[in-house]
Amino acid sequence: MYQQAAWFTTIIFIAGIIGVFVYVLINSSQKEEYASVKHKGHTVQKFYFLGLIVVLGIATTITLQDLPFDRAKAQENQIEVDATAMQFAFELSQNEFKVGQPIVFNVTSKDVNHGFGIYDDNMQIVAQTQAMPEYTNPVYVTFKKPGTYKVLCLEYCGIAHHVMQATITVTE
Ligand code: CUA
Repeated sequence: MYQQAAWFTTIIFIAGIIGVFVYVLINSSQKEEYASVKHKGHTVQKFYFLGLIVVLGIATTITLQDLPFDRAKAQENQIEVDATAMQFAFELSQNEFKVGQPIVFNVTSKDVNHGFGIYDDNMQIVAQTQAMPEYTNPVYVTFKKPGTYKVLCLEYCGIAHHVMQATITVTE
C-alpha cells in the first residue's frame, strides 16, 4: 500500500518533469520575443508547482491516514504483564495469551538499558520500547494471530546481549 503510493507519486512526478522537458523541446525551435517566452515559461512553472502541491497534499493525506502498526492505547480489559529486562534475560509475569486479548507490558530493567522488541514467527517486529532502570514504559499489544513470538533485546547491553530473549505463546 505505502510502497504503491510512493511508486505512483514518483511516476507522476517523473511524468510531470518529462512533460516540462518535452514542452521546452517543442517550443525551443520557435522564435519568439523574449518577453513572450518568459511569460509562457512562468505559466508552465506555476501550473507544475500548483500540481506538485496538490499531488503532494493528496499523497501525504493518504499515506498518513494509517500507521503500519497499532496506535498505542490503554484498554479497559487489558492484561497487565510485568516485563523486566536484566543482563541477560527477560522476566515476564505471563507469557501465554489469547488472540485479540489486549495486553500491556510494563517494561523496566533491573540493571542497564535494554531494548524490548516483540517479533512474530516471521521475525517481523510487532512492538518495541526501551527497558530502562527506574522507569516503566508501557507497550500495548493485541496479538492478531496465534503463534510463537520472541522478545529480543534491541540495545547493546553487554557481552551476552545477543542471547537475551524470551518466548511468548499466543493461541486462538
Ligand atoms: Cu539487553 Cu541487549
